[in-house]
Amino acid sequence: MLNGEKVVFSGAQATGNLTIGNYLGAIRNWVELANDYQCFFCVVDEHSITVRQDPATLRRRSRELLTLYIAAGLDPEKSCLYFQSHVPAHAELAWILNCFTYMGELQRMTQFKDKSAKHEDNINAGLFTYPVLMAADILLYQADLVPVGQDQKQHLELCRDIAQRFNAVYGDVFTVPEGYYPKTGARIMSLQDPLHKMSKSDENPNASIYLTDDTDTIMRKFRRAVTDSEGVIRYCEEQPGIRNLIDIYSVLNGKTPQEVEAEFAGRGYGDFKTAVGESVAAVLGPIQKEQKRLLDDRAYVDGIIRDNAQKAAWYAEKTLRKVQKKVGFPERVR
Ligand code: TYM
Repeated sequence: MLNGEKVVFSGAQATGNLTIGNYLGAIRNWVELANDYQCFFCVVDEHSITVRQDPATLRRRSRELLTLYIAAGLDPEKSCLYFQSHVPAHAELAWILNCFTYMGELQRMTQFKDKSAKHEDNINAGLFTYPVLMAADILLYQADLVPVGQDQKQHLELCRDIAQRFNAVYGDVFTVPEGYYPKTGARIMSLQDPLHKMSKSDENPNASIYLTDDTDTIMRKFRRAVTDSEGVIRYCEEQPGIRNLIDIYSVLNGKTPQEVEAEFAGRGYGDFKTAVGESVAAVLGPIQKEQKRLLDDRAYVDGIIRDNAQKAAWYAEKTLRKVQKKVGFPERVR
């Protein structure tokens, strides 16, 4: 609780091109929660360097992501939108939590296994302890709720375990957060291989709809989306491609998958793909336009970056000081 309101924390990485998976699985839900909670939405740039980055690109993309948060509908006067690296308490708490996390727990993380297979030449310690930094992000703000896609569930469970372990030793220091997963859209799949999640690191650009794609590109990618030879628009395990398209259409049009089946009963895949593409383009177009406007308004965005980093640091340091005291660090002398 902060100022009598429940707290929401979430974040995204500015690496690669964000996809509609990031938007539908996470950012869209942040906008919904922002009205009813005290929210912190972070651009997690410290997480990004667990994989090698080109510095200029990371810097540019981080700013683009922060402006995307605003363009997608988050009000920076209400929700705290900031860069992780601007609030040193994240890294400081992560260090302490490292001492409350077991190697075995981190070794079981599927994202660590996947990423170390992908980046064999750079299996660094940061990649290994990544979920601990993520736990620090969340616990610093005493978050009650963490809206994320399904792929972050294992990390969130670990965060809960770390919080409970710490509380068991030192008393109720941390709020133990709950995950918040959207009913539909928590796992948007690749358009080229619907058995795998849509990912910004996919090498095939046709597999993902990027948040920067223009209408023609969006329509072309949906036309090429892999489906099946059943020829029926049905929401079932056996038709993963169609199921994925139904998920996307459902979220964007506020319909249940069954209502979508009924709407397209007797129609062909071509028609359906066009309708899905149009729904996506209708949502992304205005966001892209607003993002461009914001990127051109440097002074305004700079002000938000400065003010919100201060606000986040104020809350974060409150928790950090408490934790430092609990574990036995000497008091500061003023
Ligand atoms: P990241 O940057 O990979 O993804 C940002 C958010 O998008 C969701 N997501 C998806 N949802 C549905 N379908 C998909 N195909 C899809 N792909 C991505 C992710 O679940 C996530 O919610 N480690 C995190 C960032 C992070 C964080 C945190 C999140 C760091 N600290 C604290 C919450 C709380 C990550 O890399 O997300």
